[in-house]
Amino acid sequence: MRVPSQSHQRRRWSGPVALLVAIVVLAEISFLGRLDMTKSATAVQNWTSLYFSLEDADDDLPSLPSSLPIPVEVKELSCEEWLEKEDNVSYSRDFSKDPVMVSGVDQDWSSCSVSCKFGYSANRIPDAAFGFPSDPVTASVLRSMESSHYYSENNIERARRRGYKVIMTTSLSSDVPVGYFSWAEYDIMAPVYPKTEDALAAAFISNCGARNFRLQALEMLEELKVKIDSYGSCHRNRDGRVDKVEALKRYKFSLAFENSNEEDYVTEKFFQSLVAGTIPVVVGAPNIQDFAPSPGSVLHIKQLSDVALVAKTMKHLAANPDAYNQSLRWKYEGPSDSFKALVDMAAVHSSCRLCIHLATKIHEKEEKTARFEKRPCKCTDKLGTVHHLYVRERGRFRMESIYLKSDMLTLEALESAVLAKFKSLNHTPIWKEERPKSIRGTDFKVYRVYPIGLTQRQALYTFKFKDNADLQKYIKSHPCAKFEVIFV
Ligand SMILES: *[C@@H]1O[C@H](CO)[C@@H](O)[C@H](O)[C@H]1NC(C)=O
Ligand SMILES: *[C@@H]1O[C@H](CO)[C@@H](O)[C@H](O)[C@H]1NC(C)=O
Ligand SMILES: *[C@@H]1O[C@H](CO)[C@@H](O)[C@H](O)[C@H]1NC(C)=O
Repeated sequence: MRVPSQSHQRRRWSGPVALLVAIVVLAEISFLGRLDMTKSATAVQNWTSLYFSLEDADDDLPSLPSSLPIPVEVKELSCEEWLEKEDNVSYSRDFSKDPVMVSGVDQDWSSCSVSCKFGYSANRIPDAAFGFPSDPVTASVLRSMESSHYYSENNIERARRRGYKVIMTTSLSSDVPVGYFSWAEYDIMAPVYPKTEDALAAAFISNCGARNFRLQALEMLEELKVKIDSYGSCHRNRDGRVDKVEALKRYKFSLAFENSNEEDYVTEKFFQSLVAGTIPVVVGAPNIQDFAPSPGSVLHIKQLSDVALVAKTMKHLAANPDAYNQSLRWKYEGPSDSFKALVDMAAVHSSCRLCIHLATKIHEKEEKTARFEKRPCKCTDKLGTVHHLYVRERGRFRMESIYLKSDMLTLEALESAVLAKFKSLNHTPIWKEERPKSIRGTDFKVYRVYPIGLTQRQALYTFKFKDNADLQKYIKSHPCAKFEVIFV
């Protein structure tokens, strides 16, 4: 005797029951359609998945009478597909037709990931302007690369109090940091040259005066018999008419003494030392180690009481070629991920980063309107609940969708979803063309994922989701949360 298979059994029920369920579903949907979409969304999914779990079981299901309209919801959609559609609310401003406009010298940033135009236009109120614009809707931008110890108006809190909307300074805590570094400006991986000079260190200090103790540090080093060739007008003992980087290459150490000890204020003195393959001895940013190409590659005189120890270390390294070479290992093996992630920021011009910042703010403002607040952002079906998140690469504007299951809201899952998404898009990291060939690598990996809106100081150094629970809390309290990723 033939035992009816399970599918056979189901088949006997499928026709009438499925049709009945379909009609109930349609009635339910038309009822729910009158409710707020956010509330109906999960219910529709539940009903839809019930209907299709029946249909799934049978391929012979008779098609619905063609006279019955089939609502969009009654299609076999996964939660991901459904969210992709439902959460896709379009922004009222299309930057490709209406570029971000900054008043300033005419310039088209055609390579910028958001359409971005600098210029003056009589019939167009700009989104932003440098200084204080006459129009109140135009965002005022402060841009300066000077230390706030010299120009106190560059202090972030002070500039905010004065009413600047967007601050662009060397501080990584400013809205759009403008640094002295970039792969394009410095051949960071230039080879190391033989150290042929007798003097231990070279100094290019044009002015003995400074808002810090650099002059005293220089004099103390000399007293401690660290032989210094000085090419700048401060304590000059060598002819200063030389190519600075070429000269530095021949010295074991370079005195990269800034004129003020301000966080993130790191100028070409430091980066030229890296290019030259000489160990920088720094008086300057208290967080200079954040800028070190690898641990142990930079000597820092934090305060005058450090001078004696630094002098001793210099003499020790000078006398021990292997130990000295170890400090320059990054020149052969490449700098740390942390250094790459920092310098990669500058792969996108600060003017383009300004436009991305402005466009992001314009979008964020619109996301607070009812149309956006009604997005479901999550969906529940028979497989569980799925959260819709957005992510973009730092330096780009466009967001990509990723989905995380609520029982897998972990940092690891977030990272692998981000990586899988960008790999599936055959993504090319933004720094690919900029970084020196020898340190581009063949693949990329996730260095940081953080909520959009954090400063680069937070993103690179201070922010971290404490644990999975912290991430879960964030995602649950930020529907359709937007993240940024840094690849290295
Ligand atoms: C949908 O189903 C899930 C479990 O599958 C349940 O927790 C949730 O309350 C349902 N939603 C509605 C609106 O019925
Ligand atoms: C989102 O909607 C726009 C039209 O409003 C459409 O062009 C685009 O393809 C949609 N994107 C997705 C991912 O569905
Ligand atoms: C320094 O170390 C690198 C490898 O890390 C090596 O290739 C190079 O020859 C060394 N240079 C000297 C002068 O020892």
